[in-house]
Amino acid sequence: MRRMLAAGNWKMNGLSAALGEIAALPTPENCDVLICPPATLISDMAALGHIQVGGQDCHVAVSGAHTGDVSAEMIADAGGSAVIVGHSERRADHGESDALIRTKAEAAWRAGLTAIICLGESLEERQAGQTLERCIAQLDGSVPDGATGANTVIAYEPIWAIGTGLTADAAQIAEVHNALRARLDARFGEEGDKMRILYGGSVKPGNAVEIFSIDNVDGGLVGGASLKGADFSAIIDAAAQCGS
Ligand code: PGA
Repeated sequence: MRRMLAAGNWKMNGLSAALGEIAALPTPENCDVLICPPATLISDMAALGHIQVGGQDCHVAVSGAHTGDVSAEMIADAGGSAVIVGHSERRADHGESDALIRTKAEAAWRAGLTAIICLGESLEERQAGQTLERCIAQLDGSVPDGATGANTVIAYEPIWAIGTGLTADAAQIAEVHNALRARLDARFGEEGDKMRILYGGSVKPGNAVEIFSIDNVDGGLVGGASLKGADFSAIIDAAAQCGS
């Protein structure tokens, strides 16, 4: 049985004052709670010991002449246990390819981190009827051999639903999550079945229960609503309610 995961992605938001809200977040027994703050806050947030903490990206190398980058080992050293790789904003802003993201996921494992591998179609791809083809291609290209239920989480995030207030409807989410699950099962067998598949894209307190109740949705990757303690608390409670 897969455990629910409520994951927050703060993106480039959050100063140290925001840490004050962390201690009030619920930590239900049947649900993992993770926040990926900016790299500047990983260490202090992890030191609170209240929730799991992760990075938003990592370089493929352990160390070296890569100004501005952070390695998976540095995230682990700061107290992180996971890292997001292949978020659509990284794919768009930094031209990240499936091949690079696959290597980043391996870098995450090398450091002992769980890789949260993101994928999702653009509005144009959805309108052209290419959603499943696109998502499966990204899954195949971005997830390395050796992925297990423990070291990998998949996040399906339709690009057109991120930060827009638009959410994919239940049928759209179910279609993609079922297809991803079938592909993971076919490629990884039992471990594929253990891998969690999160939905991301305008998850809010008002839609979280509906989304988390869909088959093969094992939690959420939450951007905007994870910045507000009360909203993220409600989303964590929704995940716990939908978990077993
Ligand atoms: P959003 O972002 O919840 O603000 O739509 C989700 C994400 O990009 O992970």
